[in-house]
Order: sequence, then structure tokens, then C-alpha cells
Amino acid sequence: MIKLLFYLIAKRRLLKVKIAIVGTGYVGLVSAVCFAEKGSRVICVDNNEEKIKQLNKGIMPIYENDLEDMLNKNKCSKRLEFTTDLEYAVQKSDIIIIAVGTPMLPNGHADLSQVESVTENIAKFMNEYKIIVNKSTVPVGTQKKVIKLIRDNQINEYDFDVVSNPEFLREGTAIYDTMHGDRIVIGTDNERARKIMTKLYANFNQSIILTSPENAEMIKYAANAFLATKISFINEIANICEIVGADVQEIAKIIGMDKRISPEFLSAGIGFGGACFPKDTKALIKFTEGFGYDFKIVKSVIEVNENQKTKPIEKLTNALSCVKGRTIGILGLAFKPNTDDTRESPAITIINDIQKLGGKIKAYDPIVKDIDKIKFDNIEYVDTAYDAVKDVDAVILVTEWDEFKQLDLKKVIKLMKGNIFIDGRNIYKYTKMFKLGYEYYCIGKKDSQYYKKSR
Ligand SMILES: NC(=O)c1ccc[n+]([C@@H]2O[C@H](COP(=O)([O-])OP(=O)(O)OC[C@H]3O[C@@H](n4cnc5c(N)ncnc54)[C@H](O)[C@@H]3O)[C@@H](O)[C@H]2O)c1
Repeated sequence: MIKLLFYLIAKRRLLKVKIAIVGTGYVGLVSAVCFAEKGSRVICVDNNEEKIKQLNKGIMPIYENDLEDMLNKNKCSKRLEFTTDLEYAVQKSDIIIIAVGTPMLPNGHADLSQVESVTENIAKFMNEYKIIVNKSTVPVGTQKKVIKLIRDNQINEYDFDVVSNPEFLREGTAIYDTMHGDRIVIGTDNERARKIMTKLYANFNQSIILTSPENAEMIKYAANAFLATKISFINEIANICEIVGADVQEIAKIIGMDKRISPEFLSAGIGFGGACFPKDTKALIKFTEGFGYDFKIVKSVIEVNENQKTKPIEKLTNALSCVKGRTIGILGLAFKPNTDDTRESPAITIINDIQKLGGKIKAYDPIVKDIDKIKFDNIEYVDTAYDAVKDVDAVILVTEWDEFKQLDLKKVIKLMKGNIFIDGRNIYKYTKMFKLGYEYYCIGKKDSQYYKKSR
């Protein structure tokens, strides 16, 4: 009974903790919705006025499974609000979470200008003790820089703590990952901050790892670099499989049965993209170069990935004697399924290369309606996958959306002018494709050319 009473008092106190999240992008918005779902009151801040206007109208700025329903539910319950007013958010909150972008600078380093500018403003607006939490991916030592920035910019000297709390969600499954993550990493050397942060996450029922800020910052880069390494490794195995006539899917399945390896991140394809792996691997190299360290493995991971993105064009130019004047259907623009994110998507490299060769593009993605309008102006965007394959000389499948797995492949080949199908994500069986009459190329397997020769 007494235990229950203590639990209820602790829960009440926890629910009273007000959170502000600065940056309502993939990380900030999803985190805000999940904190609200767990009972916290969250003020979301963004300097993008249009985004906040849309969010106040219940219009989602990003595509993410389950986001809209959960967001609207928590908005109705008054646990979520959206504003551009950072001063209001800081003064009304006990914990301020920074979730702004840390994109790549042209020299490969992480651009910390958004984190720095938000920090300076938080410092100016502070009106009592605050915990400032950094969720953005930042190089080791940033927590110390943030402490200094706050001290330098405070108008009145209020007490504060800065915690590093890296984010591990994956776009496409971001809500699920936040609610059921493998671990929550809290990097702080301060006991008061440690206690409050542990309470904040207590009802997420996940392993809470308490560590130093430096460890927390390094954990995020190490995790992303390791996952990127797994992808580039299996892509290299795929390239060798194509030469020796082995099947990378079979090999990945069997090596993945070894618990030390695990089957995750062993799908060969046309390279990783997105807002994290490309920039975080480069930032890690640049950051360690600053200490005179040559991070050879990660350098190779990037090189392999860049090369892998060119595989569909290599296969296309081998299959079509000339790309000039031909029309290529592109299935998928997002860097992976279940997201609208096209940042560093392999589709960008592929479209760029086809256009350089004089080819025309017809493109379809279930969610992305156009890609980098500034860079590409002459793409024909269509409304269905069948429209994208109609009268084309070849098809390149870039993103493994479920919708593409369900395509009527007999209908597809009838609609096409040619019969070349390049499957960048190995979602079809080459034996079936060959029987249907396709000249089918996939990644890391005996493709149709090999199959024809070996029959
Ligand atoms: N996207 C992911 O899958 C993912 C996963 C883990 C970690 N991360 C890291 O989380 C951070 C955020 O990533 P994201 O993908 O959510 O970025 P994002 O670009 O989707 O969102 C960033 C948001 O911050 C806002 N913003 C920028 N400057 C601001 C300012 N001064 N005041 C208020 N708002 C401002 C932008 O308008 C934008 O809405 C990055 O460091 C990223 O590396 C991303």
C-alpha cells in the first residue's frame, strides 16, 4: 500500500515535469509525441513558422507510421502544444531537449550552428534551474561546449545541467523504436540531472544506461558507423557473389544465424542513404582526424557505399547499349521504405546519372511526390507504379516499399516497352522474373545474364 502511494506520488511529480523540445523534425516531433503519450506535457518549438502553423492545424510535416493519430490524440488532451516562441517554451519548462539538425558541412564536419544558436537563446531566456538535453547527434566534447555557451550567454546566473541523450530511432519505425527501444543512454556527470532524467524515462520500461557525456556522444557515432559498416560489408560480399556465381541473400541468411553476427543490417542493395549514416560516418572521420587519427575502416565503408550507388547504372548501361533518349522507370524515391525522407537517397545518384547519360525519367514513390526540385526539373512524376513502368525501356527499383512487392509482374512487363528490370533491393525471385520474360538484374546474385549462360 505504502509502495503504491510512493509510486503514485512519484508519477504525479514526473507528470508535472514540463518538457520543451526544440526542433520538430523526425526526431523532435516523434520524441515529443512519445513523451506526451507517456503522460508528460510537451511544448514543441520550431523556427519554421509554416511547420508550426501546419502542426497547429493537425497537418503532419513528415510521414511516419502512427504519428498523426498519436499527435492529434495528445494535442486534444492538451499534453502537446506547438509554437515558434522559444522564450515561452524555455520559461515554462523544466527540461529543454535540443533536437535540431546537425547536417554535414562541405568539409565533412558536423555543422553545429543550429545547436549553438538554440543554446545561446535558451541561455538568454532561462528564468530558473533547467536541464538542457542534447538529442542531436554531435561530436564528442559538444556537451562541454554547450555548458560554456550557456555560461557565456546567460543574462542572470541560473543553475543548469547539460545532458547528452543520443537518439536511436529509425525513420519508418520511429514511434515503435521510441516506445520499445533497446536502451536509453543518459550522459551526465551530475547526480541531480541523472535523477531527473531517470525519472523522465522511467515509464518507458527500457534499459536506462547512465554514463558520461563523452561516452554518450561517442556511443551514437560508434553505433551508426558500425551499422553502416555492416551494410557496406554485405554489399562487398554481394559484389563478389556476382563474380563467383553465389547468392548473397543465402549467405546473409546463414551467417546471420550466428548470434555474434545477427541477421539485422545484412540486406545487400544499392547503398545506404538518409539523414544519418552518410553524414555521421563522415563527421566521425573528420572529428577523429582532428586528433591525428586515421579511421581507415569507416573511410572504406563510405567509399564502398558510393560505389554501390552506381551499381544500377552499371547494370543499366551493360543491358542497354545506349541510354540516350531511352525512358527509365524509377520505383521508389525515399532512401528507405515507410518514410518520405529523400536525404542522400540512392535515387538521387541514379536519377542524376541517367540524366547525364541523356535518359528520360518516369518516377513513382508511394509517399514522396517529388525529389530535389532545384536539382532535377525534368522528371515525370506519376501517380501509380504501373504508370511509372508504362512504355519504359527499363525499370530500376530503388526502394523496397511493400507496395512494390505486391506488383502484378505479368502486367508490368506487358506495360513496358523493353524488358530490363534492375532490382536494387532484391525483392523478387530471379527464376520467376526470368520465366516472365524479364532481363532481370539484382544485387549479389546470379542475375538473368548469368542464368541464361548457365542454363
Ligand atoms: N532522422 C533520424 O532518423 C535521426 C535518428 C537519430 C538521430 N538523429 C539526429 O537528430 C537530429 C535531428 O535530426 P532530424 O532528422 O530530426 O532533423 P530535421 O531536419 O528533420 O529536423 C530539425 C528541425 O529543427 C528545426 N530547427 C532548426 N534550427 C532551429 C532553431 N534555431 N530553432 C528551432 N528549430 C530549429 C528545423 O526547422 C527542423 O524542423 C540530428 O542531429 C540527427 O543527426 C536523426
